Parts: sequence; structure tokens; C-alpha cells
Amino acid sequence: MIGEAQRKALRIDGARLMRRLDELAKCGARDDGGCNRLAFTDADKEGRDLVIGWMRELGLTVAIDAIGNAVATRSGAEDGPPVMCGSHIDTVRTGGRYDGNLGVLAGLEIIETLNDRDLTTRRPLAVGFFSNEEGARATPDMMGSLVYVGGLPLDEAHRAVTIDGKKVVDELERIGYRGTAPSPGPAPYAYVELHIEQGPILEAEKFGLGAVTGVQGISWTEVTVNGQANHAGTTPMSFRHDACFVAGETIAFVRRLTKEMGGAQVGTVGAIDLDPNLVNVVARKAVFTVDLRNTEETLLQEAEARLARHLEEIAAAEGVTITTRRLARFEPVTFDARVIDLVEDTARAEGHNVRRLPAGAGHDAQMFARVCPAGMVFTPSVKGISHNPKEHTEPADLEAGANVLLQVLLTLSETDAIPERS
Ligand code: GLV
Ligand code: MN
Ligand code: MN
Repeated sequence: MIGEAQRKALRIDGARLMRRLDELAKCGARDDGGCNRLAFTDADKEGRDLVIGWMRELGLTVAIDAIGNAVATRSGAEDGPPVMCGSHIDTVRTGGRYDGNLGVLAGLEIIETLNDRDLTTRRPLAVGFFSNEEGARATPDMMGSLVYVGGLPLDEAHRAVTIDGKKVVDELERIGYRGTAPSPGPAPYAYVELHIEQGPILEAEKFGLGAVTGVQGISWTEVTVNGQANHAGTTPMSFRHDACFVAGETIAFVRRLTKEMGGAQVGTVGAIDLDPNLVNVVARKAVFTVDLRNTEETLLQEAEARLARHLEEIAAAEGVTITTRRLARFEPVTFDARVIDLVEDTARAEGHNVRRLPAGAGHDAQMFARVCPAGMVFTPSVKGISHNPKEHTEPADLEAGANVLLQVLLTLSETDAIPERS
């Protein structure tokens, strides 16, 4: 047990947190300063080995499950489910240094802060990293945390195929991260994730930190257009069944859709493959992805229905066949009101100007919200840039976020129940 006065005076070591962030950024480092640690690659293994080494050095008990999630636990004075924090350490191919990594390494910094002072919490604490949060190499995103909470059967996750044609289970075996801890995993007492905002709102509106209210709904679809390969010079325009044209029209449609729907609706075509992809051949086939997101489930369904209608109409008009495959679908999530309030009140008590806001990106916390009270702390992102090597957050903001996480975790670990605002 840690007394309230002692708890409130505790602060993490910001320089030590930065050192670990810098060290982890060397795994899969890109020449431009970013990180490329796509899930289950050699670079991911290197990052995992480094972080698990730190977990063990800190005296934590590390459990690795069959999808490669790692949960490191520090005993409390009492038994029972731990207060958990964490995030992910995989990145997109053009990733930065903080997306995900901050939440995991801030957790380790908090553990070291407690170790330094020989403090034992009442409830156990745990720090986890969850496999393939990005979903950039194999879908769905948040794969590890979804399996952890029982939302995706392990077999199904194992059978997922990466963009380079490998089965996830084979890649897990190859990098030595098909562990034996039970899956689904035990529900924590509560889960709180520190993450960079990855958007422009906190910086633009001059807020120091964010109390995240939930996560918007996510709909990922792979679209395959089958047309007819033909000669680019000899085929009159009216004779064409051009898969590339259909893809292009759909890309433009997605943009129009977001403009027409307005509000929180966003839409992205981020990946496309053409076959045969040659200068003088009308494309036979196009495969591309559509990422639609909205904070309102009914509006997200409307966007999906309008996309489906567009695909039907353009298939008929262009004489092509179109098939779709769902890659990921998550309804919007609302975090536990008590945890949102706790994050907001704690950030305020620490002297920060704090704003409540929903998350635009997917996060492991949205999966934990299925099994325990969950919430998130956001730090500002410079110019709102993320999934880009230029992703940046000022060290002082990273430290401030970690200190708020520390206080939130300690309130959750030391008090009888999650505090409720009167
Ligand atoms: C994953 O983090 C996503 O939001 O795409
Ligand atoms: Mn992330
Ligand atoms: Mn990300």
C-alpha cells in the first residue's frame, strides 16, 4: 500500500523514458528517423526481445501467449487481477517512434519508479504489449488484444495471411513468439493506455493532454475488381473493362462520400495493386482497400451501404465483376465514464489543460473495454502527424503523459473502488 501523500509526490524519470524510447527506435530503424517494425518480422522480434529483456531486468513475471502478446506483472500486497497498462510495439512500414511504444515504455518507467523506491502497490500492476495492433501486415488490426479478450478465436488469428503471403502462426513460430500463456487471457482490474493523439486537435486547441472518451468505429474492406486485360492502343474506349479505372473511380467516390456525409466521417484508400501493372495494358485486375471510420455506428453503416451501392453500379456500368472481403469491423467504443473522469481529474490536478476527445485511430484499449473498465491518456502530436517517420511529441509532453498515467494507475491500484465523481 502506498499512502496518498507519498503517491501524489511520485514522478517518473523523463530522461530514462526517453532513453528507452530511443533504444527501441533502433529496432527496425529507418534512414529517415522513423521505424519499420511490421508485426512478426525480424525487426518486430528484435523490438520484442529488447522490451522483454527490460521487463525481466525490472523483476517482472512475463507471460507470452500463443498470439505473441506479452504481459509483465509486478506483484501487489494483495492478490487479484492487476491494474494494467500497455499498448503495442509493432509499427506501420512508415512508422514513428512513439505510436504504441510510448504506452508500453511509460509502463516500464512507472515500474522502475516504484522499484527505485521499493514501493509495493496494493493491487498487482501489469504492463503489456499486444501483437499486431497496426494490422498493416495482416488483418484485423488490434489482433493481439482482440484475441486476448476473446473477441477473435486464436485459430482464426493464426490462419490470417500477411501481405507477403505468410501465415501468422508460421511467422510467430519463426520469431519464437508463439507462447503458452492462456488465451483468452485473464481480465485485468482495469486497463489504461497512454498514447500519442496522432491527430491535430490537442496541439491546435492548445491542450496539454487528452482524456479519451472512446474510439470511433472502423470498417476495413478489400475490394477486388476483375476486368479484362487488353491493348492500350487498339482497344476503343467503349470496349474496355478497365479494373484500374474502376479503382480510380472508387477512390474518388470515397472522397466524395466523406465530403457529402461530413461530420466525423473519414475514408481512405491506402493500398492498391494492379495486374499486370504495365504502361500499355488495360488492367485486368485491381485489388485495393477502403478504410471507413465514424464515431456513430449508424453513420458508419450508411457509409458502408453507400460504398456497396457504388460498387454495384460501377460494376454494371463498366462490365467488370467486383468482390469484397471484410478485413476488420469494429463498432465505436465508449470508455468507462469513471476512468475518463479519473484521467481528466488527474491531468487537471497535475496542472494540465485537458480536453476530452474521441480517438481517431484504433487502440488496444478499445478491446480491453470489452472485459474491464478501460480508458486512455493522450499526449499532443506535433502538427498531428502520425504513421509517418516525422511523428513527434515533445519530451516534456511524453513525460507529463507518463506522470498522469502513473497517478491514474496508482489511484486504481490503491483505492477500494474506481472513484466516482460526486
Ligand atoms: C491502427 O492503429 C489504426 O488505427 O489504423
Ligand atoms: Mn497505436
Ligand atoms: Mn498506429
